[in-house]
Amino acid sequence: MRPPAGGMILETGMNGSDVYRYIELLETGKKFMQMMNKYRCAIMEVETKLNVLNAEFSLQYDRNPFESIETRLKSPVSILEKLTRKGFEIHEEGLEKLIEENLYDVAGLRVVCAFQEDIYALSDLLIGQDDIRLIRTKDYIKHPKPNGYRSLHQILEIPVFLKEGKTFVKVEVQFRTIAMDFWASVDHRLRYKKDVTNEQLITDRLRVCADVIEKLDEEMQSIRNMIEA
Ligand code: GTP
Ligand code: MG
Repeated sequence: MRPPAGGMILETGMNGSDVYRYIELLETGKKFMQMMNKYRCAIMEVETKLNVLNAEFSLQYDRNPFESIETRLKSPVSILEKLTRKGFEIHEEGLEKLIEENLYDVAGLRVVCAFQEDIYALSDLLIGQDDIRLIRTKDYIKHPKPNGYRSLHQILEIPVFLKEGKTFVKVEVQFRTIAMDFWASVDHRLRYKKDVTNEQLITDRLRVCADVIEKLDEEMQSIRNMIEA
């Protein structure tokens, strides 16, 4: 069913059940937007917490634990694609609940640090805050993926205070060093490139780069430790 132009519902030849269906669609859209707004607010809250920690560190120790933060809200299309990929059937009824219970990365933050130790220092300070719940950690730094991917992934829940009360919202935070981020962005670009010949060779060479980057991170950390000793 196509929505009528210009809001003239009853003049477009819609029958009663079409009108009812149209109102249902608008309601679903409104509920969906309210849910997206919760995720947007949760991102703002976690970003603020990280900025507060960064400011405190730079005053106390004269250094910033992170270089940059990127945030992203998953698009409605990607949300529905991921649910479908995971085998869920999509219905308007209960859609928000399905998303909230099964997708952990609608709200995403990526925190890029210069040094590996700052990743753990920051993450400990963040998850140690008493309004944050840690739902899941995947430490691909201590346990890299077979392709060489490294990052610390954490799923957090953070309370968002809306007019109707407090609600906990899931947020995915990825912590990486600049070097890990460089590797991951090149890997990501190649992954989405179609018709690559020599795919295995590229995978193998990226794996080698990942090992070099791991050494580089260790060396940079050790140089900083030496300077600060
Ligand atoms: P997703 O359905 O992909 O979210 O899987 P998952 O819930 O098992 O999450 P996982 O923690 O393994 O990875 C989630 C995110 O980490 C991805 O969306 C990417 O942003 C990033 N990621 C994971 N593996 C790789 C990788 O091999 N290369 C790159 N470039 N990014 C990766
Ligand atoms: Mg994801």
